[in-house]
Amino acid sequence: MVTPNLSFAQATPYDEYVGTDTLRALPGPRTDAPEEPAFLVTTQVMELYFGLVRTELRLAARLLGTPDLPPATAAIARAAAYLDVVNTAWRPLNRLTPRQFNAFRPALGEGSGFQSALYREVEFLLGDKSESLARVHRGNPEAHGELLAALRAPSLYDVALSVLARLGYEIPATTLARDPAQPYQPEPLVEQAWARVYAERGAGDHLWELAEALTDVAEGFMRWRTLHLMVVRRAMGAKTGTGGSSGASWLERSLRREIFPELWSARTLI
Ligand code: HEM
Repeated sequence: MVTPNLSFAQATPYDEYVGTDTLRALPGPRTDAPEEPAFLVTTQVMELYFGLVRTELRLAARLLGTPDLPPATAAIARAAAYLDVVNTAWRPLNRLTPRQFNAFRPALGEGSGFQSALYREVEFLLGDKSESLARVHRGNPEAHGELLAALRAPSLYDVALSVLARLGYEIPATTLARDPAQPYQPEPLVEQAWARVYAERGAGDHLWELAEALTDVAEGFMRWRTLHLMVVRRAMGAKTGTGGSSGASWLERSLRREIFPELWSARTLI
């Protein structure tokens, strides 16, 4: 039996590769509340995963410009898998009661996940665009610049509709040439195109697999919004948020903004 190497002059190669010093130096709890560490670590983990989701969605949007669909579908599937992880990560926060949350809530000051640039960029990449929400980041030129680029670029959904058009589906010219910075408006011909994809194709077909991967990522993201709202309602009821919004009622509105709308409505037609 050969034992692992036990002698390192300085930090182990594991520490260097993973950056454990940096991880340990991340801001820790500001209060003695026993529930604060889980809140903070969950938020930090979710930020890291939003970064992974962003990378995959950016890659997928680029790859959909090429005729070979499976590599884009694989990137979207990875993004959906990352969303599954963050959705599971809500679990420890689920049972946070108002009294427990109140014990560390003042430490947030005016801080709120609402100010997460990575989350907002993921939202933009998924086609849920809002110029006003990008304005929050004007004080951080790098984050603001990335957000404006995502706002003004075609979303993953815009690019997917171009793929449908390329493959002979009837997509209105006004939809293909729309201003990508504006919120997307659902369109009956797009709904019919997705309905045909599902009516005429099945497992193993490249376009069908793309439609399913897009639906998985849309579901994962909308599930995140739903689970977040549940945690919010349990931890603070209908109180106003630290970010200044009306809290749960404001978040309920974002739940109604559907990701890839016709991929859902088309199912009624089949
Ligand atoms: C006790 C747990 C939590 C509570 C009570 C809570 C509360 C809230 C509230 C009230 C808002 C609305 C904006 C505001 O006025 O602040 C919000 C937004 C948001 N929160 Fe949380 N949050 C919690 C955990 C988290 C975690 C762990 C994350 C992970 C990063 C997160 C990310 C976000 C994001 C991205 C938004 C913006 C959503 C949107 O624009 O639709 N929250 N949160």
